Amino acid sequence: MLSPEALTLAEAKVPRYTSYPTAPHFSPAIGAAHASRWMAAIDDTHPVSIYIHVPFCEKLCWYCGCNTSIASKYEPVRHYFETLLKEIALARRTIGRRLRAGHVHLGGGTPNALNAADLAALARALREAFRFDAQTRFEVEIDPRTLDYSQIAALKEAGVTRANLGIQDFDPRVQKAINRVQSFELVADKLAKLRAAGIASIGMDLIYGLPHQSADTIEATIDQSAELGAERIALFGYAHVPWMKPHQKLLEPEGLPGMRERMALVEAAHQRLAARGYTRIGIDHFAYPDDEMTRALREGRLRRNFQGYTTDMADTLIGFGPSAISAYAQGYAQNHTRLDQWRDAVDRALVPVARGIQITDEDRLRRAVIERLMCDMEADLDAICRSHNAASHALDHFRDEIGRLDFMVRGGLVTIDGTKLAIPEAARNFVRVVASVFDQYIENSKAKHSVAV
Ligand SMILES: C[S@@+](CC[C@H](N)C(=O)[O-])C[C@H]1O[C@@H](n2cnc3c(N)ncnc32)[C@H](O)[C@@H]1O
Ligand code: SF4
Repeated sequence: MLSPEALTLAEAKVPRYTSYPTAPHFSPAIGAAHASRWMAAIDDTHPVSIYIHVPFCEKLCWYCGCNTSIASKYEPVRHYFETLLKEIALARRTIGRRLRAGHVHLGGGTPNALNAADLAALARALREAFRFDAQTRFEVEIDPRTLDYSQIAALKEAGVTRANLGIQDFDPRVQKAINRVQSFELVADKLAKLRAAGIASIGMDLIYGLPHQSADTIEATIDQSAELGAERIALFGYAHVPWMKPHQKLLEPEGLPGMRERMALVEAAHQRLAARGYTRIGIDHFAYPDDEMTRALREGRLRRNFQGYTTDMADTLIGFGPSAISAYAQGYAQNHTRLDQWRDAVDRALVPVARGIQITDEDRLRRAVIERLMCDMEADLDAICRSHNAASHALDHFRDEIGRLDFMVRGGLVTIDGTKLAIPEAARNFVRVVASVFDQYIENSKAKHSVAV
């Protein structure tokens, strides 16, 4: 049982830990020169991951927290795309070798804001710059409303292995309130076409915490997603951050669920997902027991990166496009977020990095603790300290943190057995709060995050 004091932590504003240190701690001290050196030094004995950010959509969803903009004509998309191809060629020259691509992820925004010809050209450019093979996983985020048949053919031709569809909720009243209307029939039709083209691995994104949602609507949405054969479902808690995304205020007159209602929604959703045969992975992913991600969880190989949970084992991630973040052995580097600044840098043949952070051994150690907690809901501090050659014993190294966890242990959010931390099932939604105890940057942080649950 969680104590009432512990339950108040549901409203704690903590990072999602898709990296550590987290993006608000990146600084302009890291720029093109650092990133170029880090790229030239990539270890080519392992495959790398590639992320492409496409910062365009046709229409704004009012809940959207992504880095995107609305393109009513193709002209700005074409202009962006020309720069993207230059950025890929620049990276190839900077790296100086043709690295093996393990995972490729097109995200955004909406990758299918690119027309079929440009999707095909992007795949060719990536294959020229990187080596693809039978093991390469190629995943694309898709807005089903705007996916056309020529794009499906281009994605198949490109070698796409998984399509991840933005669904959010199938209820018409919810869809209207969030300015994202897409019928079940429309999604079913696009899925049938994707499958006919051989793209059979399907994931879906859902959100809880939106206006007009109830246990009934969310259960119906899960049933419909399962009927459409989603192998993986990501169920995100709606992140209301109107200080960063002012358009989200458009949802407020519709009435946003409060903390108690959010907890009831997520509880109903979890029960339905379990009843439908999905295994819970980390905080917000669900997959069938025989899915690659569920296997990775069972075998302790699950990882967390900027796309959330992943089976991708690569330590190097090269991000392209505005705002994309790269992860190198030495640290993180984020591209300029503004299109014009990103384009200016690429036009001057500079790796378009605006900020980043060099990471220390201490960061790597803490990152491992946070990643294991976020993925496995447990972490053995002693084993992690030893594998990172920490100078002191785990109990000494993390003395302060263990002291600060005391309140959470009493509240039922975490158990400590020797050096082993474990998050009880009932406290899983609070893992970000427990992980934040190991975050050395958070105390001085001015960053505002979304609520924990
Ligand atoms: C880049 S979008 C997916 C592709 C495409 N743009 C679409 O919406 O269909 C990534 C996902 O982020 C999630 N998302 C966006 N804004 C969010 C927010 N404020 N809170 C929680 N999840 C959000 C949605 O589930 C969305 O499907
Ligand atoms: S949710 Fe997807 S389609 Fe909607 S505005 Fe955001 S990125 Fe675009």
